[in-house]
Amino acid sequence: MARSEAETPLPGGDVTDGIVRVGDTVRRPLGPHSPLVHGVLQHLERQGFDGAPRYLGLDEQGREILTYIEGEVAGRPHPAWLADEQRLVSLGKLVRHLDDAMAGFAPSSAMLEAVAAPEIPGMPPAPDAEPEFVGHLDITPENVVFREGKAVALIDFDLAKPATRVDEVFNLCMWWAPFAPDGDRTRPLRGVDSAARTRLIADAYGLSPADRVRLVPTAIRRTERSWYLMKYRAEHDGGGWLRMWQDGAGERIRRRLTWLESEGGRLTEALTTADPGAAAGPLRGATSCDVGQSAGS
Ligand SMILES: Nc1ncnc2c1ncn2[C@@H]1O[C@H](COP(=O)(O)OP(=O)(O)O)[C@@H](O)[C@H]1O
Ligand SMILES: [Mg+2]
Repeated sequence: MARSEAETPLPGGDVTDGIVRVGDTVRRPLGPHSPLVHGVLQHLERQGFDGAPRYLGLDEQGREILTYIEGEVAGRPHPAWLADEQRLVSLGKLVRHLDDAMAGFAPSSAMLEAVAAPEIPGMPPAPDAEPEFVGHLDITPENVVFREGKAVALIDFDLAKPATRVDEVFNLCMWWAPFAPDGDRTRPLRGVDSAARTRLIADAYGLSPADRVRLVPTAIRRTERSWYLMKYRAEHDGGGWLRMWQDGAGERIRRRLTWLESEGGRLTEALTTADPGAAAGPLRGATSCDVGQSAGS
């Protein structure tokens, strides 16, 4: 592609202001998380993992320079192909490859301190599990690049943090199963069978039997924490976080929690049954709620 110095705004995401494309690169402002993100991207490059942008350094304005990845990213309004199951399976496999490639990356303590979750009064503790790698943890439709109907790359590693496989798969499910009541879903995902899609994701990722049982309790705890963390970000960081909070993000999180508490039994059943076809049929509408911690709200 011909190199041009013209800057084209890239408005796809919700959070970061001032992202532009310059030729075959993207320029993004730095934040406290940036040293970890650059470490992650450089590690992935050393591993030969090509499903992520390359970090090329800083430009004269102090912005990070990343390679632009050609392909299809869901814009708004969201395209119908968000519901496509082949794409979902390809995404589950891509995230598995990413997480496997992250093994062996040892971030510095300064990198980790900059992204550590704040202590917030009232916020329940994180699930009691040792992190397994630095996960992406923000696998929204706007952060996945597709080509020829397959997920080929993840972008926007700004929320990367130490994570377990369950944390990463929960994040994937939250956006793509999705874990939300119908009224809060993007149009193409209204009415889809979230339990069946959760199973597809877990199978594509290769989630272990023990981790399948942990998925719903982890989802509930992470969702409880996200209410406090989003509120904190809105109050302390402002910008896109404040816009999302003012746009009702806190209420949506509460509705997700209620949805997880009522659907959790069906999700776990779909994840653990020997025959996923059976789970998608007769179990529809089941209301088993044995899903670990409750919201207490
Ligand atoms: N490296 C990249 N390759 C291709 N497209 C990108 C890249 N980085 C950003 N984009 C596009 O710009 C949009 C916003 O960038 P993103 O890094 O996700 O910012 P935000 O923090 O606002 O979500 C993305 O949804 C995508 O459409
Ligand atoms: Mg984004």
